[in-house]
Amino acid sequence: MGNVGAGVFKHLTQNRALLRERLGYELEVKRIAVRDLAKARGVSVSGELLTTRWEDLLDDPAIQIVVELMGQKDESLRLILGAIERGKIVVTGNKALLAEHGREIFEAATKYKVPVFFEAAVAGGIPIIKSIREAFIGNHIRSIHGIINGTSNYILTQMCERGIGFTEALAEAQAAGYAEADPALDVNGGDAAHKAIILASLAYGFWVPGDKIHVEGIEHITAHDICFARKLGYTIKLLGIIKADASGEIEVRVHPTLIPEKHVLASVNGVFNALAVHGDIVGDTLFYGRGAGQDPTSSSVIADLAEAAAALQSPRSNYGFMPHGLYGTCKPIAEIVSEYYLRLTVEDRPGVIAQVAGVLGGLNIGISSIFQPESSEGEPVSLILVIHKATNAQIASALEKIGALPCVKKTPRMIRVENFA
Ligand code: HSE
Repeated sequence: MGNVGAGVFKHLTQNRALLRERLGYELEVKRIAVRDLAKARGVSVSGELLTTRWEDLLDDPAIQIVVELMGQKDESLRLILGAIERGKIVVTGNKALLAEHGREIFEAATKYKVPVFFEAAVAGGIPIIKSIREAFIGNHIRSIHGIINGTSNYILTQMCERGIGFTEALAEAQAAGYAEADPALDVNGGDAAHKAIILASLAYGFWVPGDKIHVEGIEHITAHDICFARKLGYTIKLLGIIKADASGEIEVRVHPTLIPEKHVLASVNGVFNALAVHGDIVGDTLFYGRGAGQDPTSSSVIADLAEAAAALQSPRSNYGFMPHGLYGTCKPIAEIVSEYYLRLTVEDRPGVIAQVAGVLGGLNIGISSIFQPESSEGEPVSLILVIHKATNAQIASALEKIGALPCVKKTPRMIRVENFA
């Protein structure tokens, strides 16, 4: 009963009558496992419901549904597998656990014919799991572009709009209860990667291995990058990009991305998340809402609880994730194609641009735009380039060669660009 657990309890209590009317039965909280019995939780809970042993929930035969919101690894896995083995339906928001152990969890779910629901694991209150699993069941998902970490979106927005520093913006996100217990996961792309793995697995029917995806965080984004991106007509977002090509090979990546200011995702600010999903039948769709925080996440947990209760009444053959063999391979990272923004710090003298352009030309990489902001005479200057489509392998080789030029004074900075073409 941490942040989200307390929210679930509060809203189950507040909206009890509405849920009873809509479901036709009552959801009753039988037991709540907590780490610290004395902790204040901002909700009124009878002490009789509380226990410090989560095993008590498994041992109680009257409990039919277990909600796992501990956010742990080993303990959460033991709780979830223990519940499945006992025939108790599981609701979880544990994205890290699903990303790493999803295959094992759903093998157990299938073996014991016990559903596992996980709407709260991705994008807080946005019903994206249900949408991909149910609403788009007839579609091949061609692509998903998502802002799926509220904390990093909050930080980028505050840096951009208020000009505050990275550390101050992160402290605000933590104070608002958006950040992970380990906020490094929010800023290094790890949390968004967990969610991208879950979405890709659901969209393509196999549990995507973590080592097949490319992940970068927002730690190195500076106010300069935000400002230069703006001059070029772009906004910087931490984006999860999931795509399948015509051969069925998929790519999954999370990284800071320049997106055109006119694209709808560019106006998704603060803690809000959004996902643009393209299905072969439905075409373009867009989902928007709060991606973190007690209330929106509770809303998703309660939706799963209602679905779990419905599954108790009429058992189903889909246990939350339906594996299939229509996809199954991930494109090697080096072969993934993108466009790129490069920020170089170079000597301010004639011939520098020609040297940089020479390296790129030699690797058959085209430049789509270039600009050099004004600077004080004699000081190293920024040189900004936007690169046409190239593979990750090509750009890595270009960065190595450009970084080694004597006229280049600092390690080149690269951010990928997505034009949604
Ligand atoms: N720390 C996460 C975020 C919480 O900021 O998006 C929701 O998963």
